[in-house]
Amino acid sequence: MTDATTNRRLGVLISGRGSNLQAMINAIAERRLDATIAVVISSREDAKGLDLARTAGIETLVLSHRGYAERAEYDRVLVRELRKREVRLVCLAGFMRLLGPEFVDAFPNAVLNIHPSLLPAFPGIEAQRQAWEHGVQVSGATVHFVTADLDSGPIVRQQAVTVLPEDTPETLAARILTVEHELYPAAIQLVLDGRWHIKGRRVLFADP
Ligand code: GRF
Repeated sequence: MTDATTNRRLGVLISGRGSNLQAMINAIAERRLDATIAVVISSREDAKGLDLARTAGIETLVLSHRGYAERAEYDRVLVRELRKREVRLVCLAGFMRLLGPEFVDAFPNAVLNIHPSLLPAFPGIEAQRQAWEHGVQVSGATVHFVTADLDSGPIVRQQAVTVLPEDTPETLAARILTVEHELYPAAIQLVLDGRWHIKGRRVLFADP
């Protein structure tokens, strides 16, 4: 068995493009992130991110929710596959399925997500478009712990992005994505380093 304190094995869950997955792969290669991606699980077999994982020599698995009558059953299969590979931290990266309490309880304070807005503003899908349509002047990206409620767990890291007058939802999304690619690996590194605790909703970090 892997020692819990030294285990830096990640399980990355995707459904699509996989650019955040690629950012993690790059960060590991450049030694900005001290971790190993043990497995990439996709809810869709046509996810582009699967090719990125394969190119990097990472084990991949396609687990579609179709074929499971209940969400809890799908969640249990995910948990089993992640545990089999001794994953310590689960990183959602564009994973388009809602995870239920069974999953979240199986990995207490060990599931992260990245969301393309400054939460709690604009949860849910198309957050960048929501922000643009609302007319905010600042949006950004948030890395947070996952709870059974959508996009509302304790916040690990956030970074702001200025909305420019000439922005479209697409140009804004592209600038936020660039920020995501730096923010997510850095937040994963912080969480793996373990010098933090959660008080109420707040993630408190020890001084370096
Ligand atoms: C990102 O914008 C992320 O914030 C959101 O889904 C998108 C995934 O993009 N949760 P990618 O698959 O990592 O390229």
